[in-house]
Amino acid sequence: MLVEIIQKQHIELRELFARHQEALLQGQLENARTWLEHYNVCQRGHMQIEERYLFPEFAKIERTTKWDCSLYEKEHDKIKQLYDNVAQDLDWLIEQEINESQLRRNIIALLDKEKTLKGLNEHHEEREEEALLKELSEQLEQRHLKELRLDINLTWAEVIASVKETTI
Ligand SMILES: [Fe+2]
Ligand SMILES: [Fe+2]
Repeated sequence: MLVEIIQKQHIELRELFARHQEALLQGQLENARTWLEHYNVCQRGHMQIEERYLFPEFAKIERTTKWDCSLYEKEHDKIKQLYDNVAQDLDWLIEQEINESQLRRNIIALLDKEKTLKGLNEHHEEREEEALLKELSEQLEQRHLKELRLDINLTWAEVIASVKETTI
């Protein structure tokens, strides 16, 4: 099922972000940056998959839900912006020569900012799973859905492999 395939990618992305946050919480900033970069590579790959394979199809069908393609695209842009902002803050923090207390306070500030990113992401993913993907699954022909699933799985495997090479 198309929904399950994308849902699985959402779960894998969440796991990468969780690893980043665990490292951040422990004050392991370099490690936190590495996981954040992995997350970014996969998040961008995931968005490209959606923009290339799903959004054009979604634009063609008769929607019954109120959100059109442009909303999903705008959310992608917003997620990318927020990510860049968080990544910049972490880069800045890594360069600071500060004491333990200052470090902890900066980490708290960063985690607060990440909460916004996580919240937006969760809403976006929920909308995709419950509206966009559901509608596509209902309205596209089985043969077409099968082709889409194949293309999406192949592309995602490449994205994940590029990250795994550097982590294992
Ligand atoms: Fe998306
Ligand atoms: Fe998604």
